[in-house]
Amino acid sequence: MTMPDTISTDRIDPFSPWKLRTLELPNRFIKAATFEGHCKGGKPDREGLGAFHEAFAAGGTGLCTVSYGSIEPGGRTFNDQMCLQDDILDDLKEVTDRIHKHGAKTAIQLAHCGNSSKWSGWIGRRARGPSNGFNALGTFVGTPFARALKKPELAELTRQYRSAAERAIKAGFDAVELHMGHGYLLSQFLSPAVNKRKDEYGGCAENRARFPVEVLQAVRQGVGDAVPIIVKMNLRDGFRGGVEIKDSIVTARLLEANDADALVLSGGFSSKNAMYLFRGPTFVEELIKVQRRKIDKLVYRMARPVLKSQPFEELYFLELAKQLRTEVSLPLICVGGVQSLSSVHRALAEGYQAVQLGRALIHDPALVRHYQQGLKTESGCTVCNLCVAEMDRDGVRCVLNDALPARTLTE
Ligand SMILES: Cc1cc2nc3c(=O)[nH]c(=O)nc-3n(C[C@H](O)[C@H](O)[C@H](O)COP(=O)(O)O)c2cc1C
Repeated sequence: MTMPDTISTDRIDPFSPWKLRTLELPNRFIKAATFEGHCKGGKPDREGLGAFHEAFAAGGTGLCTVSYGSIEPGGRTFNDQMCLQDDILDDLKEVTDRIHKHGAKTAIQLAHCGNSSKWSGWIGRRARGPSNGFNALGTFVGTPFARALKKPELAELTRQYRSAAERAIKAGFDAVELHMGHGYLLSQFLSPAVNKRKDEYGGCAENRARFPVEVLQAVRQGVGDAVPIIVKMNLRDGFRGGVEIKDSIVTARLLEANDADALVLSGGFSSKNAMYLFRGPTFVEELIKVQRRKIDKLVYRMARPVLKSQPFEELYFLELAKQLRTEVSLPLICVGGVQSLSSVHRALAEGYQAVQLGRALIHDPALVRHYQQGLKTESGCTVCNLCVAEMDRDGVRCVLNDALPARTLTE
């Protein structure tokens, strides 16, 4: 198949404004969702979360993604993850105001962890996913099993996604990002390895996409016609029996037909092969070190096989994404190893419309401005992955920056 007509093959300037639905973005750089670790007990720490995101906005990033907003209390993987209820909207408004002050826009990632959770609310109960199964993360904290969601519960979750999206818009977010990747609830439905349902929500790729698509439709009804809905999804789960590119093409077509505005193309499954989404050296030993409770240390010791190092290269999802590029016309956003400015240009030349950066921006929140001003052409991030473990200490940060004077981070 050839490139669809609607995709421009002109060279895209990454610093040029980008219109996503009705939203005018100052450029093509997006801060990827990186759970920040600034929501103790589920409530955003205004100062910590605000300062974290303001640094990206001040540093030239066009769209800052806040992560992650659980759509209901049971959608949290950990206790200290944000739950998007009415009582935190004022806190979030302060965060979105701080981002807007610099001319940047902001999205929030809406998510639910499904069957993989060590949230204390599940103790004595069973986390919920597409099918009955194991909740490895909850094994040593008293919730080792997950059960299949019943159909009325799916309808309720769909309403909760919609309500969470409506709240996000009230709190000042300009867009929402639906998390359908990385082994979270909607990704569990998409994955044949986890979704063993015998009803219309399981079986073929179209059926497995049914619940995610219903969620998208409900969120669209909730936010209305103007607000962009970005979907983050897996190109591959990255293990045998999981989602393969043929399945993700089916999903992408359905998402496009149901009015998604752009797809962020990622991969990997947190409960099975988390390093497939990050690549590079494992952070498991550091994660064990930062846990305060013995039981949490034990959970992560048991997770060592899931967190095995994987080789890193820049733009590590590009080759898979090229196979999907020819099958849909909606904008695609590149994530995964966008580090150097040359990789940004390459991604845009290969058919993506924008790029998301996670670790490179955690290392240098002003990277976009540095690239634009010609002060840098490479990110200084070494992909050591230690920033990930910091989420369980005092909030995500780059450990390399300890040695740098603070001013170099934002100048
Ligand atoms: C500290 C950290 C936290 C992350 N948390 C999330 C998250 O909450 N939701 C998500 O979809 N991806 C999350 N990711 C994955 C990133 O969004 C991104 O897909 C991945 O880091 C690859 O992009 P990069 O090479 O630019 O870092 C996280 C990554 C990091 C480094």
